[in-house]
Amino acid sequence: MDISKDMFRRVLGNFATGVTVVTGIMPEKRPVGVTASAFTSISVEPPLVSVCFDKSTQSLDAFVKGTHFTVNVLSNMQTEQSRHFARRADDKFDGMDHQIGENGCPVLPESLAVVQCAREAIYDVGDHMLVIGRVERLESAQSGEPLIHFRGEYRQLD
Ligand SMILES: Cc1cc2nc3c(=O)[nH]c(=O)nc-3n(C[C@H](O)[C@H](O)[C@H](O)COP(=O)(O)O)c2cc1C
Repeated sequence: MDISKDMFRRVLGNFATGVTVVTGIMPEKRPVGVTASAFTSISVEPPLVSVCFDKSTQSLDAFVKGTHFTVNVLSNMQTEQSRHFARRADDKFDGMDHQIGENGCPVLPESLAVVQCAREAIYDVGDHMLVIGRVERLESAQSGEPLIHFRGEYRQLD
């Protein structure tokens, strides 16, 4: 079966996901953030998570060379932030409300959960890089609903 890029994206878009903004620090110390749905929890003991980055991601070096990264799990109040961090730009944190977490990476207020990681391993997988992080610190909001991505559109839980 020939599998075109369009078909792959359309069919796999039936798998509803949450949405995250993964933040890190570029080698020249510039903070970066990338909207990513390819986030998965991997292992409880030791606590490991993974994120897959397209090799064309401009800020890829932050995640394959940097020592730490942070996964901000977005709420349904953060659709604009998801759109913002999905645009290619060098200065995504200019004018963007954020704090710096214990691991040095940006944290977005209003996130449902914040997962601070140290880079554990990277794997070259097709046109993506799979980055495994060892969880060093976890926080979650007391309330709030998730932002969902399904068939190419933002959705909310009914
Ligand atoms: C809902 C959504 C989910 C996305 N998930 C991913 C992902 O898991 N991995 C990835 O590399 N890019 C993903 N992207 C695309 C990146 O956010 C986009 O390419 C971004 O501009 C990369 O930032 P940079 O190139 O400025 O570093 C997603 C975009 C959207 C809107």
